[in-house]
Amino acid sequence: MREKIAAGNWKMNKTLDEANTLASELKGMIADEVKGDSIVILCTPFPYLLTIKNLIGSGTRIKIGAQNCSEHEAGAYTGEVSAPMLKSLGIPYVILGHSERRQYFGEDGKLLAKKVDVALKHELTPIFCCGEPLEVREANGHETLVKKQVEESLFHLDATALQKVVIAYEPVWAIGTGKTATAQQAQDMHAVIRKHLASMYGDVANNISILYGGSVNAANAKELFACADVDGGLVGGASLKSREFTEIAKSF
Ligand code: PGA
Repeated sequence: MREKIAAGNWKMNKTLDEANTLASELKGMIADEVKGDSIVILCTPFPYLLTIKNLIGSGTRIKIGAQNCSEHEAGAYTGEVSAPMLKSLGIPYVILGHSERRQYFGEDGKLLAKKVDVALKHELTPIFCCGEPLEVREANGHETLVKKQVEESLFHLDATALQKVVIAYEPVWAIGTGKTATAQQAQDMHAVIRKHLASMYGDVANNISILYGGSVNAANAKELFACADVDGGLVGGASLKSREFTEIAKSF
């Protein structure tokens, strides 16, 4: 279903105490201040998932997500975390294919297709990331590359499975750089992605939430979220501050 989503990607930040403080502040602020039917997702580091989930509790718009999972379901894969493990913790979302995973951990489209499959098999909602590096944007290859990323990792799904996926368009040059895509650039790419989905899945494309990511903050969120094809944001740095992230969550 096409939902409005403010997702925070905490990346590898915060000690347990700091994470608890951030989550309890957010719990109060979001409950008091965020109106409407949008949802908020906190993608915490693995060790804090259960603690933060219990702290947030049920009956709230706040959901918990992981930042990655293995393509394998179980076995001798030291240091990895599986989709069945996340499922068993009651974690509903998992970020897959973040550009930092692609860049630093060599994750490619084929591997990500497997991760998407295993996540869906265990009823996790993948937040599938795509986006072009600066040199590709400068060479005007961004549309081609992003369409290819979506195709490689999602186009093997049937329409029912695709509808369970959230997509995040995150131009790499905008991540952690303070350099946000303009609302027009974001809207243009989101429309390209939706049109590409429609070419394969028809009307189902209108049910897919496509989030923008890359230096989203309290000052630019409203304009970005107002774009017709932008259904919310995947927020890194600004999700680590309760006041700032709450303002973003209020920007629909
Ligand atoms: P940023 O990160 O908001 O710090 O740019 C976004 C992301 O990497 O998801």
